[in-house]
Amino acid sequence: MTARHRSGRHFLQIPGPTNVPDRILRAMNRPTIDHRGPEFARLAAGILEDLRPIFGTRGPVVIYPSSGTGAWEAALVNTLSPGDRVLMAETGHFASLWCAMAGHLGLEVKMLPGDWRHGVDPERIEASLAEDRSRAIKAVCVVHNETSTGVTSRIPEIRRAIDRTGHPALFMVDVISSLASIDYRHDEWGVDVTVGGSQKGLMLPPGLGFNAVSDKALAAAKGGRMPKSYWDWQPMLGANAKGVFPYTPATNLLYGLRAALDMLQEQGLEEVFARHDRHAEATRRAVRGWGLELLCLDPREYSSSLTAVLVPEALDADALRAAILEGFDLSLGNGLGRLAGRVFRIGHLGDFNDLMLAGTLAGIEMGLKRAGHAAAASGVAAALAYLAAPDLVEAGRASAA
Ligand SMILES: Cc1ncc(COP(=O)(O)O)c(C=O)c1O
Repeated sequence: MTARHRSGRHFLQIPGPTNVPDRILRAMNRPTIDHRGPEFARLAAGILEDLRPIFGTRGPVVIYPSSGTGAWEAALVNTLSPGDRVLMAETGHFASLWCAMAGHLGLEVKMLPGDWRHGVDPERIEASLAEDRSRAIKAVCVVHNETSTGVTSRIPEIRRAIDRTGHPALFMVDVISSLASIDYRHDEWGVDVTVGGSQKGLMLPPGLGFNAVSDKALAAAKGGRMPKSYWDWQPMLGANAKGVFPYTPATNLLYGLRAALDMLQEQGLEEVFARHDRHAEATRRAVRGWGLELLCLDPREYSSSLTAVLVPEALDADALRAAILEGFDLSLGNGLGRLAGRVFRIGHLGDFNDLMLAGTLAGIEMGLKRAGHAAAASGVAAALAYLAAPDLVEAGRASAA
């Protein structure tokens, strides 16, 4: 059977991979160059420098030709030794996967259980570290923005909790779905390894993984005894200093990254964050207008890059998503792990504007109406009223200034 042509743009509103803007697509649509030649060295040097402010760091950022999962592994294997204890918090599906990975790698994980509706509780981190008098815990690893739940943990508060105990554990943070969309500061917040990926706020296709690395993490890496080769920071950092990589880099993705960095610089990160905050607020207003429940229970932890929505018992979230895809060519995120069938997730991050959000919310509202959800009428109206208010646009600009 031949695939059916659908006119107009597909709406890719899963919380990553996100829509790749034409400018980035065009930037990648060039012949691959010699990755050991002078042109590449100039490209790499510029990217390695300009990536730092995106992570809020003055230190090095390692770039892997990998998905985010690879960058998770790199963070662990570079800094730790077999049998080391790590403290993690079960905020959702991705925190659970990182925890499982640490176990597979031979680390001993203490996972603080969670209800998948809250972020990391700084007090519980503090209590666990305070109890650890022998300093057996070598790292605290948390997910900043839990993509399965739309909950953003309060990283500065977790840092302060660690500091109150005087515990020397490394602090590692996954920013895969918050990088370049939610305020994040690797240096200021005292993070040792920040784990990122290309396919969300950076507006690129999947395929690049990142580690931003503190001096303390670099020192820990000198004593780390986990087996590693591909992920080893040392050959990377050595080669990067000369504008090359120890193995073949993802050259065309790096062209795209160059364009993404230019676009983020032109818009300014503060404005990028304010835009995400505003779209997230409009989305929450729509959800309340539809009479549906946000999965995230604590307003201090609302995610600005995605919103997870609980559906009533009478609805199956996957059937609703399938009908919206079929009817309106709009992809929404599914419920992951224990949330399967119970939630849908609206991605509002990356290359996104008011009318894209309006279209997304309209598609959901029409899908809810078709599914017989009675209260579906006022969600889009509530969101549009918020987006249309000029004072909010000004407020967004002012907060960005
Ligand atoms: C928060 C978070 N961590 C880790 C991952 C895993 O990244 P990847 O699928 O690129 O390997 C994802 C993927 O969506 C994620 O959202």
